[in-house]
Amino acid sequence: MNNYLLSSIKPFYVMEILEKAQEYEKKGRKITHLEIGEPTQKVSSIIKKTAKNSIEKGYDRYSNSLGVLELRQMVAKKYKENLDVKISPDQVIVTTGSSAALILALISLIKRGDQVVIVEPYYPCYPQLIKIFGGKVRVFKTHERDGYQIDTIKLKKFLSKKDKVLILNSPSNPTGVSQNKEVLSFLSFLGINIISDEIYQGLNYDLDAETILQHDDKAIVVNGFSKFYSMTGWRLGYLVVPKGMIRGIQKLQQNMYICAPTISQHAAIGALQIDNNEIRNMLKSYKKRRDLTIKSLSNMGIDIGYSPDSSFYVFANMSKYTDNSLDLSLDILNKVSLGVAPGLDFGPSFKRYIRFSYSSSYRNIQIGLDKMREYIKGYTE
Ligand SMILES: Cc1ncc(COP(=O)(O)O)c(C=O)c1O
Repeated sequence: MNNYLLSSIKPFYVMEILEKAQEYEKKGRKITHLEIGEPTQKVSSIIKKTAKNSIEKGYDRYSNSLGVLELRQMVAKKYKENLDVKISPDQVIVTTGSSAALILALISLIKRGDQVVIVEPYYPCYPQLIKIFGGKVRVFKTHERDGYQIDTIKLKKFLSKKDKVLILNSPSNPTGVSQNKEVLSFLSFLGINIISDEIYQGLNYDLDAETILQHDDKAIVVNGFSKFYSMTGWRLGYLVVPKGMIRGIQKLQQNMYICAPTISQHAAIGALQIDNNEIRNMLKSYKKRRDLTIKSLSNMGIDIGYSPDSSFYVFANMSKYTDNSLDLSLDILNKVSLGVAPGLDFGPSFKRYIRFSYSSSYRNIQIGLDKMREYIKGYTE
């Protein structure tokens, strides 16, 4: 066993909360889950229908390692229609969730000792994956007071020649913030390889949907079906890469995964045909849930000092209540049966924060926030 590597890998602290919650549930306690970043709405009927058809037709074998051609063509079409970016299906490789897309992108860009910059607060996997592939993690911090926008002047000063890759996540988990056009355009002039994790792309409310590809055609984009189409268990994502990289990544895919799940690829062809009205209604509903979350937190004295413009997280500063949000999250779970995600998962600078996920139903969020109010009341009395 590679003890050195395994002992350096951090757990997902939110999983500790979830596992404790499951223990309580087994004993009959009713837990409200606002800790998990997983949409609870059912997948669209067209997704189920195309999946069923693909099983009937026997599309249940290995696909081409790059993915089913029709799906790659439809992804390229989506980029043209929704984002006005021209990409070729030959730049798209379909993967086992965007998690596999991230892994393939990192392996193809970094070698042992290379420095990789991540933006704090960050998706917890990033530093762990960088370590696994022998890279060195460098953390660039963003602040609530700046609306979690990257300070481009500071970033330019921060970067060194040894930094090989920058991982961007916009819209972001855990803040729900999209980087603005100026930031995206600035990044393209830095001369650093960019992996842009856009798994929440399109889940924004008031701004036009963005992709780094509108500014930088050399960037690598990670995207997937888990969040926008609520297809977490179907394990489907994709990479958009410059043409010159596709063969190398294809070889990695052949050796590591063979191909992405074929039935899910066919289901995703259905997902990309979902009616625009259905999407508009989904966004309207998320926006309502976001507003409910922010307003209820503010009513109990937890002010959110920035604007989460995208789904489906609100990141709350809890320094009035704690120095250690893992302890706080466990205490909230113990006392009022509510699951929330400790900020420590998203970087040490945010150990006093907690993340509320509003990906579940309006009613569930109301119940969860009522429990939070009860907890805060107990705290202040
Ligand atoms: C920022 C970000 N990237 C990647 C993933 C992985 O998603 P999946 O592998 O389900 O596509 C997640 C999941 O929560 C995420 O929040």
